Amino acid sequence: VQLRQGGSSFVGLCPFHAEKTPSFRVSRDRQTFHCFGCGKGGDVFTFVMEIEGLNFREALESLAERAGVKLDMARGDRGKTSSRTSGKTRDVLEEAVRFFRESMSGPGGEAARAYLDRRGLSAEDAARFGLGWSPQSWDATSKHMASKGFSDVEIFEAGLSVKSERGSYDRFKGRVIFPIRDDAGRIVGFGGRLIDGEGAKYVNSPEGALFNKRKTLYLMDAAKRSIRERGRAILMEGYMDAIRAHMTGFTETVASLGTSLTEEQAALIKRFTELCYISYDADGAGQNASIRGMYVLARHGVDVRVVALQEGLDPDDALSREGGVSAFASALEKALPLPMYHVRARKKYLRVPGKRRGALLEILTGLASLPMLDIAEYIPAISREIGILEHELRGEIDSKRRELERAERRSGIRENKKSAISAEGIAGDSGVYINDGENAHDRRSLDLECAFCSLLWRDAELRSRWSCGELIPLFADEATSGMIAALASGEPPADLESRWRSMGERMSFERLARGDAVLAGGGLGPEFADALVEAIRTNALKRRLKHLEPLKISGEATSEEIGEYFELMRKLKGRA
Ligand code: UTP
Ligand code: MN
Repeated sequence: VQLRQGGSSFVGLCPFHAEKTPSFRVSRDRQTFHCFGCGKGGDVFTFVMEIEGLNFREALESLAERAGVKLDMARGDRGKTSSRTSGKTRDVLEEAVRFFRESMSGPGGEAARAYLDRRGLSAEDAARFGLGWSPQSWDATSKHMASKGFSDVEIFEAGLSVKSERGSYDRFKGRVIFPIRDDAGRIVGFGGRLIDGEGAKYVNSPEGALFNKRKTLYLMDAAKRSIRERGRAILMEGYMDAIRAHMTGFTETVASLGTSLTEEQAALIKRFTELCYISYDADGAGQNASIRGMYVLARHGVDVRVVALQEGLDPDDALSREGGVSAFASALEKALPLPMYHVRARKKYLRVPGKRRGALLEILTGLASLPMLDIAEYIPAISREIGILEHELRGEIDSKRRELERAERRSGIRENKKSAISAEGIAGDSGVYINDGENAHDRRSLDLECAFCSLLWRDAELRSRWSCGELIPLFADEATSGMIAALASGEPPADLESRWRSMGERMSFERLARGDAVLAGGGLGPEFADALVEAIRTNALKRRLKHLEPLKISGEATSEEIGEYFELMRKLKGRA
């Protein structure tokens, strides 16, 4: 946010809503911000939570990394790659970005510049998206990196070189480079497009210390602000599609880099918006995978609309045509909600006797995986389209849903988070994930977490008894773990309370009230704090065991996980 001094505070354009005159104020004395336009306000933690769509704990981690403060939050899935290695890899990649940029504008970059020109990208466009060129040579990149003091191993581990029997060579040789950044704008890898000759059209950085394709959405760092302001994201497939969309004003666009959408990518979108327009290539080939990806997104609570483009065009082609921008804008307006799109996409099969059953089953399975609330409004239209009476359709969806639930219970793949949420009955979730036996258990475990929060809230001595890192991995519930992170890291309850109020955060207050009720009901006081922590720890171990069990049974567990499984069994035997 561009700020300028205005009286005793700083003012600028609010990043949380679209405005032309600045009403966003930052106070240096109070270390707070407030927008008089949209009412958002808070401190540095609130700001990062809101702007990045993070929970408290994640905001804490992100700020700590920026400030160079080490948080001791061992366990969980963090810390798998040592931060020293990934820090080094980032330095390598940042240097490579510079090198690729220079190679593009330098004397060896004519072919690349001509290619971009053919595709309608100016030098400014290339600079805006950081595009570069990896020279047509086996080792130009590696040589340059070595001259900057990086070792062969570092260059290899950053994914810039490939090993073969005849030695190592540059992975991106002769390719136009698309730097890939995470949502915070940190470089994580590259995509490289071949401009002529033989080979795969695109090559990406290998999965490694920084690059995880499953978790990444191309251009999210550039798009997240527009996504928040416009209240929607547009999802495309390719690098060039997303770049063209940004160039033509659709700056809320991200790309999933080819494959169908993953759970992690869906969660990333959900951090910024609850409405997503999907504009994939109109060819039939990828349609099955893309419909699956759309359901993944819908199950994460995102309203999915599918944009129809003219057959044979990808969004880049469509937007580059004469009148393409306004045609795309009206295609967005006419986009179909996922259930309707799914039915239309299968319509041709519904009329073919040998294929009708299969197509119906696929549609029912998709619909049954979504909350009833989300599909209710489409039932009349769907029943007309597929030629089944409304009440029959409802019946079919219900029985499919029960079947899916049974299968899910059998396979045991249920994340604890989901059940913790359904235990709360939030937003009247129709119960896709409800299973009574476990619900009672989840409720009790949440009771304990809330009770412990209430104890810490009231008692400063207790707050200093445990470290943040010791406690956080034990908590399953997001609101309680956020509260524990704040309290155990020394934030005074009064500050926390005013932050929640300024954010309109209700959940934490509800958790505290629940905790107070549990303590009062059981006549529990601070002398029970240690016992509570032990009970919470036991629950955490049980959850971990429940997570590992299906992996072990299906043979997907690593040897480490199997070791952990038996260790957990041993530990839990000694406990209640
Ligand atoms: P497309 O083949 O649709 O390419 O792949 P595109 O985006 O239209 O590319 P241009 O316009 O020909 O340059 C879509 C996306 O799939 C991934 C890339 O992320 C690409 O943008 N992909 C494709 C690969 O990773 N490798 C490939 O060999 C091809
Ligand atoms: Mn294309």
